[in-house]
Amino acid sequence: MKVLIVGSGGREHAIAASVAKSSRVDKIYCAPGNAGIAQIAECLEITAMEFDKLADFAEEKKIDLTIIGMDDPLVGGIVDVFEKRGLRVFGPRKNAAIIEGSKAFSKNLMKKYGIPTAAYETFTNPEKAIAYLEKSKLPIVLKADGLALGKGVLICNTLEEAKAGVKTLMLDKQFGDAGNEIVIEEFITGPEVSVLCYCDGTHIKPMTSAQDHKRAKDGDEGLNTGGMGTFSPSPFYTEDIQKFCEEKVYQPTMDAMKAEGRDFTGILFVGLMLTEDGPKVLEYNARFGDPEAQVVLPRMKNDIIDVMEACIDGRLDEITLEFENNAAVCVVLASDGYPEHYEKGKKITGFENFEGKDGYYVFHAGTKLTDEGIVTNGGRVLGVTAKGADLKKARANAYEATKRIQFENKYMRNDIGKSIL
Ligand code: AMP
Ligand code: GLY
Repeated sequence: MKVLIVGSGGREHAIAASVAKSSRVDKIYCAPGNAGIAQIAECLEITAMEFDKLADFAEEKKIDLTIIGMDDPLVGGIVDVFEKRGLRVFGPRKNAAIIEGSKAFSKNLMKKYGIPTAAYETFTNPEKAIAYLEKSKLPIVLKADGLALGKGVLICNTLEEAKAGVKTLMLDKQFGDAGNEIVIEEFITGPEVSVLCYCDGTHIKPMTSAQDHKRAKDGDEGLNTGGMGTFSPSPFYTEDIQKFCEEKVYQPTMDAMKAEGRDFTGILFVGLMLTEDGPKVLEYNARFGDPEAQVVLPRMKNDIIDVMEACIDGRLDEITLEFENNAAVCVVLASDGYPEHYEKGKKITGFENFEGKDGYYVFHAGTKLTDEGIVTNGGRVLGVTAKGADLKKARANAYEATKRIQFENKYMRNDIGKSIL
């Protein structure tokens, strides 16, 4: 089988590594990929938003399955373009990817179908938003409706901050059109858990849980980032909580999307907060999490192609997902200064220290192959993942492994997974 993966981050490297393990796959392409993916796939000079070029390539090379890793092309309708041309593709159509593409849509869906989430109102008029804030309890959360690289969420402790937030999102348009509409949401507290689920339009099967660390600095200080590290499974996500979520969140979400004529196929990422009043949905994404995929996929025992094909063909009920009875931790090695200003082009050394080491992975995110070797090419550079018998051992292994990689301005958090010890 020939497989094409669309995307270029650590998530796509983790997907490619899973695909490479499948006995059914002979050849992997990735568009555009990165220096790490290039070791297991042929990388193409086509970007993720060039839908027609990607579909032309898939047709020409007789690609058997295309896997869309990233949110932008999904929300933009890449799956519809592929399907129209009779190409097999894994991911939700545009009318279903809106569950990630519009927070107003997803909040209204949850309200309509009684799926637990924080109380909220939506606004397209900044004056009305401010009038609402004046009578709201603090802290309060503002969210840009559209995609904003995970950065369009503002947690405001004072009324002044909240008013300034409305200005940033709606008037200054810091996130462009993503801020045409905003959601103002009740502030809730509790451990956060990410649960990635395979979906076939009717059935939904959750994978093992994971927890991200979104802030840039130790102790959850600093700015929000795409994610600085993850661990899996989450000890907070007990069997009782899983059962609750299956009954009240996962299947109801599938049923709601179907009832709306928006059957969801692909990966539904459910971001949960485990509050004192029970689990509540913080957000949905229409794809694997990054860096959640880097701890969940290495623990999955199934052949990923079998599972993805079952999703496309609507027979996910025939599949039993299986995960290793261990743990994994991923520590992101970033460029110092991320998510703001940072330098690129620094030579990276030490990859050879991972060769032949079972249970250790170095997933590339922002890297590039040059004449001098592999250099840094982004804020998040690498994800170092290690497995262990339990979270404590996986964490020790992952931090030991981070020492094997060197580059100038290497930065990481030192407390990934610390909260669970
Ligand atoms: P989101 O993109 O909606 O997941 O939000 C990004 C982050 O903001 C989440 O991972 C939470 O840490 C935080 N957050 C979002 N919504 C709320 C809320 N209603 N109450 C408290 N924190 C929130
Ligand atoms: N790690 C969070 C996300 O992928 O959205």
